Amino acid sequence: MRKSAKFLLVQHQPLTMQNPSSNTANIEWRNGQPFACDFQDVYFSTDNGLLETDYVFLQGNDLATRWLDANLQTFNIAETGFGTGLNFLCAAKTWLESAPQNATLHFISVEKYPLSTHDISTALNLWLQLKPVSEPFLAQYESLLSSVNTISLYDDRVRLTLLIGDATERLSKTNDKIDSWFLDGFAPAKNPDMWQAALFQQMARLSKTSTTFATFTSAGDVRRGLINAGFEVSKRAGFGKKREMLTGKFLGNNDEA
Ligand SMILES: C[S@@+](CC[C@H](N)C(=O)[O-])C[C@H]1O[C@@H](n2cnc3c(N)ncnc32)[C@H](O)[C@@H]1O
Repeated sequence: MRKSAKFLLVQHQPLTMQNPSSNTANIEWRNGQPFACDFQDVYFSTDNGLLETDYVFLQGNDLATRWLDANLQTFNIAETGFGTGLNFLCAAKTWLESAPQNATLHFISVEKYPLSTHDISTALNLWLQLKPVSEPFLAQYESLLSSVNTISLYDDRVRLTLLIGDATERLSKTNDKIDSWFLDGFAPAKNPDMWQAALFQQMARLSKTSTTFATFTSAGDVRRGLINAGFEVSKRAGFGKKREMLTGKFLGNNDEA
């Protein structure tokens, strides 16, 4: 990985705030790890968040293998629930280590309750091995909360778009075709409002025939909702204490001619 980070602000919003009405996450620290008071849920596995991200989202979408393709030029990931940015930083690190040098990763994440700059810094301090990617990101995080929604990182090999607001609502205004979905966003039983058919329909609208998804949950409503929206869904062993999780791919055909 090249050491110099380019602090280029890519896209300015016309408003001074991306979303002036957004609420900052209400965090409590339990054994040094962030816990969401309003959802009564964790941001990542208390067993090992780093390994969970790698297993559930990166391996679940087969990213390390797909990114070895020498012809790859761009790759778009969309995530529901940016949280601490752990998934983003793990994906960015793997991208920098494996994808062709001239290819660009565009990571689009939606977050309804962004962490404050202080809380996200504290959370990311847990992962010393991510410092080369987390420090350049943290240097620009404040701007993502206020005036811009897309930043360029790591010599423009990665672009991060953070859409502040509800996942379904913000995705409905997006037209980027997505290669892989990271379906995060707290357990469906604790956050049922997000895990609705309308979200899966937006996922289908933004997917292509090769598009994959992965999620930590194996909830029946989520599995059925994704199948109804046009995804093939498989179960695999879950991470840590979780018995099962879901992965799959889009079966529909939205591809442009
Ligand atoms: C388990 S955490 C995500 C962890 C995160 N991916 C990471 O790498 O740290 C779930 C996130 O989903 C967000 N969230 C909950 N409901 C949402 C909604 N309707 N739209 C967008 N984000 C939502 C929460 O605020 C929280 O940050």
